Amino acid sequence: MNQGNGAPAGATPAAPAAGPLPRVLVTRRIFPDLLAELRRDHDVRDNQDDAAWSDAQLRERMADVHGVLVDPTRRIDAGLLDACPRLCVVSNVAVGYNNLDVPACTRAGILATNTPDVLTDATADHAWALLMAAARRVVESDRWTRAGHWQGFALDAFLGAEVHGATLGILGMGRIGQALARRARGFDMRVIYHNRTPLPADAGAPLQWVDKAELLRSADFLVLLLPYSAATHHAIGAAELAQMKPGSVLVNIARGGVVDDAALVAALAAGRPGAAALDVMENEPHFHPGLLARDNVVLTPHIGSATHRARRGMVSLAMRNLDDVLQGRRPQALLNPEAWESRRRYRAE
Ligand code: GLV
Repeated sequence: MNQGNGAPAGATPAAPAAGPLPRVLVTRRIFPDLLAELRRDHDVRDNQDDAAWSDAQLRERMADVHGVLVDPTRRIDAGLLDACPRLCVVSNVAVGYNNLDVPACTRAGILATNTPDVLTDATADHAWALLMAAARRVVESDRWTRAGHWQGFALDAFLGAEVHGATLGILGMGRIGQALARRARGFDMRVIYHNRTPLPADAGAPLQWVDKAELLRSADFLVLLLPYSAATHHAIGAAELAQMKPGSVLVNIARGGVVDDAALVAALAAGRPGAAALDVMENEPHFHPGLLARDNVVLTPHIGSATHRARRGMVSLAMRNLDDVLQGRRPQALLNPEAWESRRRYRAE
């Protein structure tokens, strides 16, 4: 691929290597120009129709490839890896990697990679959009206006929550959480967060670490940015929701499963929280029907990072990670560095 080889810009591209190219599977449709770039140095099996492959179809297509570019909804587990004797790299097109069994990759000598950084600001922007939409009832009032209900200005129409000066709580303070906290400064918000490890004191913004109970009790807006794992499954369930402030707003832009959505539907009916905005849900896209029935819920279809720049950046970085491994270079975003020494190496055959 056309990067990182030290060749000056505009230099004549190197001739393609002789012999068979590494075989690569791409599990979802990607940008055509990036696919064309990938094809230059790889024998690519694509899915430009975006077909919903069954597990058996995926296994069949992966059986003889050396690398796979995988979307975050596709589970890559030990059984599947066992069926792929040539696989050297699983390159996730996402920063979250709960879909990958990383220890199983390590045991098999397969390197696993993800796409951090390139989507941080896009995802923080979307979290902010969800927060504002829920606070100011943007989607609900849009639906009402389109339905022809508007008869004229009313002083008490669609009253919402004040964002400016309120308390923002962030559960899971990584790169995206910190980007969100920077946005909150412009709204003069107090920012509190909970994380296993508090940030160093010099992290920049005035942020206050609090325990989880204090976070739930004090946040007017609670944004979830936890990675999903067995340990964070239903981190926000009935007991946690009952501790939230009446009228507060819950935003989930992390992963479905971090929130118990059935408990959320019941909690919304009781007013704690007062509203929710979800970009991710349990069992998406077949999420809890109770969410649809509520006006105080804003739903988006897992598009947190969906800007042109971020999504292209994710695919490009995933391609670079994959190509690095197949070329024998250590990839930028390696999830299992412990597998490096004993990794499977690509051999042309
Ligand atoms: C998307 O959901 C991601 O984790 O990047």
